[in-house]
Amino acid sequence: VIGPALKGVYDRRSEEWIIKFVHNSQAVIKSGDEYAVKLYNEYNQTVMTAFPQLKDDQIRSIIAYIKEAETAKAAAAAPAAGGGAQGGVSAETTQALVWALGGLIVVLVAVCVVLLVVIAVIMNVIRAREKGETAKPADIMATIMGLARNKFVLTVVVLLLVIVGTDYTIKTATNVGLHQNYAPIQPIAFSHKIHAGQYGISCNYCHIGVEKGKSATIPGTNICMNCHNYIQQGTNTGEKEIAKIIESYNTQTPIEWVRIHNLPDLVYFNHAQHVKVGGIECNKCHGDEAKGIKVQDMEVVYQAQNLSMGWCVNCHRETKVDVTKSEYYRTVHDEWNKKLEEARKEGKELNITVEKLGGLECAKCHY
Ligand code: HEC
Ligand code: HEC
Ligand code: HEC
Ligand code: HEC
Ligand code: HEC
Repeated sequence: VIGPALKGVYDRRSEEWIIKFVHNSQAVIKSGDEYAVKLYNEYNQTVMTAFPQLKDDQIRSIIAYIKEAETAKAAAAAPAAGGGAQGGVSAETTQALVWALGGLIVVLVAVCVVLLVVIAVIMNVIRAREKGETAKPADIMATIMGLARNKFVLTVVVLLLVIVGTDYTIKTATNVGLHQNYAPIQPIAFSHKIHAGQYGISCNYCHIGVEKGKSATIPGTNICMNCHNYIQQGTNTGEKEIAKIIESYNTQTPIEWVRIHNLPDLVYFNHAQHVKVGGIECNKCHGDEAKGIKVQDMEVVYQAQNLSMGWCVNCHRETKVDVTKSEYYRTVHDEWNKKLEEARKEGKELNITVEKLGGLECAKCHY
């Protein structure tokens, strides 16, 4: 925006020249260096800050970085393109497993039916032998129907149906209102994998509320424009998506992101309490630990956890709190210290969990 692009600078100028120029560009210009004077005039005589504090080796590192960034950019484009389905692949695997299990059950039932028929045939053949006759198909059918009407067989089948049905009903009922794996289509194809993963932008840079209050907050267009004022090129699709940010900025209309995580109104959840006071990492709640997926890996963010009450409560039961680390616990701290001291004397193990601090009281989450 202000000076020339540094791509290929190591081919245009000697290392010695670059080091001198970075240390003090004005001195090089004043010495009458033809290239430097031309550059200075070309860029409206904007003065480049002098960096006398940089050591020669540090400047060599920057040049090496520029060289490497070009090769890295070509290499990075390839994996970024394929990552989109990451959340979906595991879901597909689960789906495939369910189908495989279902198929297995169907096969087993079929085997049972065939066995029943075989038993019926053998029984008829034996009976017929005893009477010195050959078995008739009609008799075999009658035996099969008899087995099917057998009280024991009927009871087993009904019991199995009741067990499967109850299990299904309970599972469905407890999942009402939960939306695990929800991943709506967003108005702009924003990628956490590129921003938080590849470029390592801190979560707090965009979710500015996360250490200060209840809500993490979603960044406004202005935050995107801090960078996208300058970064407007990308892959074909990327460029179209970035154009939507610029349109939002020019027309002063907010981007309408679709909310993903959404607890019912009857629950109170506070980010600062967990992130700042509790010191819990975002990925503990927004990542998918079982599959080893972090938000930094997600091309499309999805709700990795089920956000059920059991999920909150289980973590409160298990998570130990270091009361010495937080001002929040000044008084609680002294009392617990006494209890810890006593337990230590008696040789007992005592862990201070969220539960022990009142984290399971109904009114802490419902009021
Ligand atoms: C460059 C800005 C930016 C950075 C950096 C960023 N996010 Fe986001 N985040 C967004 C935007 C925009 C959305 C809404 C669109 C979407 O869901 O992808 C969002 C959505 C989310 C959501 C879902 C919100 C909902 O609606 O429930 C979570 C969770 C989240 N981010 C976590 C993180 C974590 C964790 C990090 C750090 C590893 C992070 N974000 C880094 C911009 C950012
Ligand atoms: C701190 C800088 C920074 C911020 C803030 C930022 N981005 Fe980006 N964004 C980048 C970089 C770097 C790239 C990658 C450009 C490239 O690959 O050439 C990028 C790429 C993109 C792309 C294109 C991806 C592709 O496939 O090519 C989109 C879309 C995008 N950003 C949307 C957003 C949105 C929406 C916001 C605001 C919520 C935002 N960005 C905030 C730095 C940023
Ligand atoms: C203890 C679990 C937990 C931790 C840790 C956590 N979150 Fe959340 N997050 C939630 C829950 C639960 C919601 C839904 C809140 C609601 O609906 O009221 C949520 C919602 C969000 C949202 C969307 C709605 C909002 O609050 O603005 C974003 C964005 C988000 N989290 C980002 C982050 C980031 C970034 C971090 C880490 C700095 C983080 N979260 C840490 C549990 C957590
Ligand atoms: C990953 C673990 C974890 C999960 C999941 C979690 N919490 Fe917590 N929660 C904590 C920790 C740790 C603290 C204690 C922070 C502190 O030191 O005050 C805490 C504290 C709280 C407090 C304050 C308790 C008090 O004593 O003042 C409330 C309220 C709360 N959580 C609500 C929720 C709700 C609602 C959910 C589910 C949507 C949830 N939490 C999920 C770890 C978790
Ligand atoms: C750590 C936080 C937390 C604590 C403590 C907690 N709950 Fe919940 N509760 C939740 C969350 C989150 C939900 C919503 C999840 C869902 O929809 O399944 C919920 C949902 C409920 C519901 C269902 C409401 C509805 O209309 O669907 C009832 C009833 C309930 N809680 C009662 C209680 C009672 C009684 C206690 C105390 C013994 C309690 N809760 C303690 C977090 C908590």
